Amino acid sequence: MTRRFALVGTGARAEMFVRAIADHPGTAELVALSDTSPHRIRVHNDWLRAAGRSPVPAYPAAGLATMLARERVDELIVTSVDDTHAGHIVTALEAGCDVITEKPMTVDAEGCRRILDARARTGKRVSVAFNYRFNPVHEQVRRLLAGGAVGEIGSVHFEWLLDVRHGADYFRRWHRDKAHSGGLLVHKAGHHFDLVNWWLGAAPAEVYASSRLFFYGENGRRHGYARDYERVHDSPAADDDPFALHLAGNPRLRALYLDAEADDGYVRDRNVFAPGVSIEDDMAVLVRYDTGATMTYHLTAYAPWEGYRLMVNGSRGRLELEVVENDHVSPAAAGELKGAAVHGVTANPERGHARLTVHPFWEPPREIPLPARERGGHGGADARMTAVLLGAQTDPMHRSATARDGALALLTGLAANRCLQTGAPVRVADLLDLSRPET
Ligand SMILES: NC(=O)c1ccc[n+]([C@@H]2O[C@H](COP(=O)([O-])OP(=O)(O)OC[C@H]3O[C@@H](n4cnc5c(N)ncnc54)[C@H](O)[C@@H]3O)[C@@H](O)[C@H]2O)c1
Repeated sequence: MTRRFALVGTGARAEMFVRAIADHPGTAELVALSDTSPHRIRVHNDWLRAAGRSPVPAYPAAGLATMLARERVDELIVTSVDDTHAGHIVTALEAGCDVITEKPMTVDAEGCRRILDARARTGKRVSVAFNYRFNPVHEQVRRLLAGGAVGEIGSVHFEWLLDVRHGADYFRRWHRDKAHSGGLLVHKAGHHFDLVNWWLGAAPAEVYASSRLFFYGENGRRHGYARDYERVHDSPAADDDPFALHLAGNPRLRALYLDAEADDGYVRDRNVFAPGVSIEDDMAVLVRYDTGATMTYHLTAYAPWEGYRLMVNGSRGRLELEVVENDHVSPAAAGELKGAAVHGVTANPERGHARLTVHPFWEPPREIPLPARERGGHGGADARMTAVLLGAQTDPMHRSATARDGALALLTGLAANRCLQTGAPVRVADLLDLSRPET
């Protein structure tokens, strides 16, 4: 049966879902688009026309409920700015729709509670688009840990590095304001917290964090990177700045953002060292799980290379994963950013490798063969995820994340944020009690 999908939030990420729906005509049909910017909706409809498909009706975000009823929508895809997710999810559930929402599910405990209550009240489904679960390497880690490769898990050490190309992108636009994104502990680390919850089959119980803004924002002056301009477009001072994102020379970015500015004043190309940043770029977190396991976690958003290292200590040995997605950002690659890279959607087969090893006690380490890196968004994970979320494939590994999974990932970040304010460890149940029966 073909289900009728609509989407709210027609920015960069929306394109992946719109394409995926077109790739699954047997199970999914796109019937409407909504956004606060009419221009950005038109851009998506232009892309549909260019791909030989019919444009779909456009609705303002304020008319979301009307759209869901009039277009007989079965399922809403939410790809809008993070702090708008909760309102749209609840509206859709109340209208009798299922929901696929981009991560983070929302940015605060109050929004999270509203979503969980609406889901329980309506009996409708919320899937959170945690695409990292669908990465074949991450699936392999899950299989190994669930299969007891290292025995009972005692502790996890997890470090994630965002390079100065990808990491910088969070400091150009709405992400730089914690009110919109929850900060990187919610917006970005949520992916990683979700992976650990899934890998360990555990829920976070207590969180301690220490983080700061070290590199971007006004720190640029101290480190010698600051240039004197507010935004890149029409600023000669940005011409040779490797941190500058040049919208005008890229037809896709120009159409989506520069040409849409009259709608809502959304500026996509701020100087990453301009004042006004309220998020952190260097984050240390300590988590204790309900299983008794602990995790030390670090996220750095200004690294020279992009990738991550995971170490899992167990009662029968240790698992180690090293993934290098991009071993450096060359000046040429920084230049490419002017054209090609928009975080989250660029297939970037650059210099990298992945190595997964299991170290059992009393035996030499065993290297686990990994599948070749797939092309496509997030190493093929986006295509694998949408095949499941759009109903074209079954999900025997239970990779598809529920509202409860979305809440657990979110609460780790929210607890970390609370700790940054108070300096004291935070019990996750004090933010939101997920043991209540309706959740
Ligand atoms: N899973 C992933 O790997 C991944 C990757 C990229 C983005 N994302 C998520 O996708 C979402 C969108 O990110 P993006 O990079 O496309 O951002 P974007 O800024 O390109 O797009 C956001 C869109 O939301 C619209 N918007 C703003 N306020 C709105 C409102 N009240 N109602 C409806 N629409 C509104 C904006 O006009 C814009 O079109 C975010 O939640 C982000 O976390 C996930």
